[in-house]
Amino acid sequence: TPEVRSLQDAFSKDFYVGVAINGRIIDQTDSLSLNVVKKEFNSITAENIMKSMNIHPKRDSFNFEMADKFVSLGEEYDMFIHGHTLIWHSQLSPWFSTIEDSLEFATATKKHVKDLAQHFRGKVDSWDVVNEALNEDGTLRNSIFLKKMGEEYLPSAFKWTAEVDPNADLYYNDYNMTNPDKRQGAISMVKKIKEQGGKVDGIGMQGHWHLNSPSLEEIEQSILDYSALGVKVAITELDVSVLPNPWDLEGAEISQNFENNERMNPYTKGLPDSVQVQLANRYKDIFNIFLKHRDKISRVTFWGLGDGQSWLNGFPIRGRTNYPLLFDRDLRPKAAYDSIMALKERF
Ligand code: G3I
Repeated sequence: TPEVRSLQDAFSKDFYVGVAINGRIIDQTDSLSLNVVKKEFNSITAENIMKSMNIHPKRDSFNFEMADKFVSLGEEYDMFIHGHTLIWHSQLSPWFSTIEDSLEFATATKKHVKDLAQHFRGKVDSWDVVNEALNEDGTLRNSIFLKKMGEEYLPSAFKWTAEVDPNADLYYNDYNMTNPDKRQGAISMVKKIKEQGGKVDGIGMQGHWHLNSPSLEEIEQSILDYSALGVKVAITELDVSVLPNPWDLEGAEISQNFENNERMNPYTKGLPDSVQVQLANRYKDIFNIFLKHRDKISRVTFWGLGDGQSWLNGFPIRGRTNYPLLFDRDLRPKAAYDSIMALKERF
């Protein structure tokens, strides 16, 4: 057997292994990171530059420059290119909320979706058509899209995208998708979208996870439940925070300034070996599940390359030092990387 030299080699028969890349990687200012991306991954997602705020800053004009560079990069290295995201209430371009009239809002939203799908037609392999439309209890989030267009915005968005680019895989993507209430909500939502003529090809389970939650049982059951809908399952936005959530700490208030709080930011001088091992074991456990269900999983995408680039250093409070990814701040593979690579020997 040939030597396994990278994540993409290791899982080539299982699923795509993807990474979210930032602007500095896309415009090739950060060539060190770019080299690791090219070596290790066979799929890319733009972490920010395809969000409406960046790509469609004014109602009448798009800013495709960075997104086009992103696509060229993927094409050059023959990667699977994932588009993130067509409809999202957050990082929404401000012009959306200046439209009072509902009909006008719907027309503009339709144009947004169709114009983007058209521009990237045949280039973007799959889309997060709608991102984060659910509340934790499984009901629909009262976003500007729901307020202006009603529930219909969901099937419509999927229909519009499929009309323009019938070959792209269309995903619904959200976080906490392992939470039973939200899971039920997602399942009924996808069923409904399909009943109403929308084409849904996949569900994206954002993997913004922790060392001890969600449980492995919840992760596995969620993969099974979504797959039972007859759609592909992608693990998107994977990262494992090693820091406590403010809301998990007794007596903690999120409004407090935790920046210099030892309890909230304990590893500013480095990650202790014991936690490094915990992280490696956690990644091993979740990848074991992914491999067990590799027939159901289309792609596993990490939300960032190295620890220094992770959004989790600023969430939910500024100035934290988190270690959620497979590569350290110098882009060296961590124990978590080795633990995943070692798994392949068993399959
Ligand atoms: O680029 C500007 C910079 O010029 C400016 O000085 C700085 C000041 O705040 O902001 C920079 O932009 C930030 C951008 O990330 C790039 O770093 C934005 O403020 C910040 O809001 C943005 O955060 C992103 C966040 O989504 C909001 O869009 C994170 O990088 C990104 O990782 C995160 O990703 C989301 C997914 O899209 C959806 N699911 C959840 C996930 C995590 O929140």
